Amino acid sequence: MKKALIIGANGQLGSDIDSCLLKHNYVTLIPNHSELDIVDFEKIKQYLSNHKPDVVINTAAYHHVDLCEENPELATKINTVAPTNLSIICKEMNIKFIHFSTDYVFDGVKHKPYIESDYPNPLNVYGRTKFEGEKGVMLENSHALVIRISAIYGVNPCRAKNGLNFIQLMLKLAKEKDELNVVGDEIVSPTATYDIANLLPILIEKEVCGIIHLTSEGECSWHEFASEIFNYTHTQIKLNKVDSAFFPAKTPRPKYSVLENESIKSKGIQSLPHWRDALHNYLNNIKN
Ligand SMILES: NC(=O)c1ccc[n+]([C@@H]2O[C@H](COP(=O)([O-])OP(=O)(O)OC[C@H]3O[C@@H](n4cnc5c(N)ncnc54)[C@H](OP(=O)(O)O)[C@@H]3O)[C@@H](O)[C@H]2O)c1
Repeated sequence: MKKALIIGANGQLGSDIDSCLLKHNYVTLIPNHSELDIVDFEKIKQYLSNHKPDVVINTAAYHHVDLCEENPELATKINTVAPTNLSIICKEMNIKFIHFSTDYVFDGVKHKPYIESDYPNPLNVYGRTKFEGEKGVMLENSHALVIRISAIYGVNPCRAKNGLNFIQLMLKLAKEKDELNVVGDEIVSPTATYDIANLLPILIEKEVCGIIHLTSEGECSWHEFASEIFNYTHTQIKLNKVDSAFFPAKTPRPKYSVLENESIKSKGIQSLPHWRDALHNYLNNIKN
């Protein structure tokens, strides 16, 4: 039986990883943030030598994009220094290290899906500190695995963003309003955390390392995504398509951040479902 330490196990992604690994007969260690802070190098070392997991999965991040601009030092500590240190310790202790990164390492000007070998050019502090984190993790430990994901949604809320995911927010707003404005010029691949979690046992078993992309197939704007949510749930609402300038953002974000899962496909690993199918699954699950 494999033993996995999941850092951030009460988060949106971490909670699905925990349930998925349990289904695959892993023993999971799930300390919360106050019990194990990834910036505390000595405590992490002590924890790993006491518990000796086979794999460490780090979902923890400082990822509220506007707060990262205000606190770049904290963002660097959590998104760059801590994962780099985790990678070093895991290498020393012969533990597989898996770390999550983001589509925000790219600037969005390619307008075609980004592949793993495209060179990042982040537009904000969050993206920059995550990119530095990826480099630190891989430079220190070539057996580590960095997984870039994008626009995730799960059953549990995103703790850093403190609230509902996009789907839950749309369904809530539709109950309160007759009309909604949703951005039509930001293109993403919305991805269910369940689908990411479900692939982890395969990635571990196949000893995949390096940087990989893991998102739902296909792409859509937030407006198209909202439209599919309302169609599938037979929700009556007037949905307007607006430009991102309609909701002025403090921090620049890529307008196109679709990731192509080229690396896993080249290894013969089955990719994730199309975003539309994944959305339907999610809506069926929350209904039940
Ligand atoms: N959300 C997205 O749309 C998105 C998109 C692309 C990539 N990502 C990446 O995906 C990963 C997971 O995102 P998520 O939405 O699941 O995040 P989340 O819901 O905010 O969960 C993050 C978890 O990490 C814990 N944590 C934060 N700082 C920590 C620290 N210093 N030490 C230990 N634990 C700490 C949090 O605990 P507390 O809440 O108790 O502090 C929480 O349990 C992150 O790496 C993020 O950069 C997310």
